[in-house]
Amino acid sequence: MTLAAARISINVNEPQAVIRPELYGHFAEHLGNCIDGGIWVGEDSPIPNFGGIRTDVLDALRQLHPPVLRWPGGCYADDYHWEDGIGPRANRPRRVNLWWGQTIETNAFGTHEFIQVCRTLGAEPYLGANVGTGSPREVREWVEYCNYGGDSALAKRRAANGSPMPFGVRYWGIGNEAWGCGGNFSPEDYAVEYKRFATFVKDFGGTRPYLIACGPDGNDHNWTSRFFEKLGRFPHLHGFAAHYYCGTAGPSATEFDVNQWYELLEKSTRMEKLITEQRALLDRVDPDRKIGLIFDEWGAWHYPTPGRNPAHLWQQSSLRDGLVAALTLDIFNRHADKLVMCNIAQTVNVLQSMILTQGDKMLLTPTYHVFEMYRSHQGGRSVPAAFEAPAVKFAVGDEKRELAGLHGSASLKSDLLTISVVNPHSTFPADASIELAGGMLREATISVLTSDDLRAHNTFESPEALRPTTTAWEPRDRHVFPPASVTVIRGRVGG
Ligand code: AHR
Repeated sequence: MTLAAARISINVNEPQAVIRPELYGHFAEHLGNCIDGGIWVGEDSPIPNFGGIRTDVLDALRQLHPPVLRWPGGCYADDYHWEDGIGPRANRPRRVNLWWGQTIETNAFGTHEFIQVCRTLGAEPYLGANVGTGSPREVREWVEYCNYGGDSALAKRRAANGSPMPFGVRYWGIGNEAWGCGGNFSPEDYAVEYKRFATFVKDFGGTRPYLIACGPDGNDHNWTSRFFEKLGRFPHLHGFAAHYYCGTAGPSATEFDVNQWYELLEKSTRMEKLITEQRALLDRVDPDRKIGLIFDEWGAWHYPTPGRNPAHLWQQSSLRDGLVAALTLDIFNRHADKLVMCNIAQTVNVLQSMILTQGDKMLLTPTYHVFEMYRSHQGGRSVPAAFEAPAVKFAVGDEKRELAGLHGSASLKSDLLTISVVNPHSTFPADASIELAGGMLREATISVLTSDDLRAHNTFESPEALRPTTTAWEPRDRHVFPPASVTVIRGRVGG
């Protein structure tokens, strides 16, 4: 066995920005079986449910303490008319889902059902308003319907539909991917639309809306610069939401060679450059740093799975995806001073999901396990941490590339220190020295997600093939991190 020499140094004396729990947010779209079958089965289903919502999925998601859930899209949001999804279910119109396979949407799952999911999970709702095929009036009325507690026709309608108390929805997205499925706007045209829509999204007494504009596709500087130049001084913009999908490498989620293992991991780490450069662009137009940077869609996107409807974006999730999640969350933790929300795409049965369902069966993906392992970072304060090991070299065709040999982040919540570490090497353990400035660790545990098989994943036949182990850990100044692993060390810091 060859060991790679590595070094981790952490300084708990200098806690920095709070890692907002919202960086661990989720996204559920009307797409394939995310809502239909994944979250919503209907009250008459033989699958155990709570008012039509699957209890097994809710119970599993609750363990992650999901802070925020984005809905109804995605591309679907810009063709969704909220009034289709309220009132008696038997009267709700059936609509064609334009973007995702033209399947029929029954609208059985609408605003009230979504709010019910959020309340059960303890998550803040984040609604995506329709700019593409909607109107400022439609959006303004949705806000009033959700948030007004007084005597108005819309508030009475909400009460008649079962919810006298306002929903108190704070997060409002003004369109989705305005540069693409949201209307193919130029940045200038979207800036004009943004102002027109955002002007009418008001505080209806009690809940001040947090307004989110569509940011770039990946690290598109042009979109960001031109949008803000045209927008000029306009105070009703609180968050700017980019999307970054790191894509895939190799034929499928579970078929790839070693180079493709590294290729995808390296692409996921480009999130760092993207954040650094986009936040620098924001600093130019917003020197007081009032605008929050958001990634309301991120994750791996593999090729369509044979035998599945390609428009439904169902994909497996292997150990490699677990490392993609861990590398990305570590980057988010390190940029906690600028990021206000991030939502992985998507919660159930779509893209890099937490959960896969099949009829009444359910399995937890490696990505779920990473979110669970990283849970204690939520609400902690990011602390300076360096992770060093020789870079891994790999090839993509004739091109030589490199990936840093060790990754991670650290946070402090009260006296609870969480250190997350990713060793991406496919075969070498990392023998790391651990230097902790500012305290001694005690009562520590260690959780590890790894496998000898890089392609390890859970199936409905073997749903627990890949899961983390957690044991007590005797604090020491060295630790060997297994190859292809995600590790979280948690412990109390004392003097
Ligand atoms: O998450 C799937 C789709 O990816 C979303 O609907 C869209 O916003 C993005 O292109």
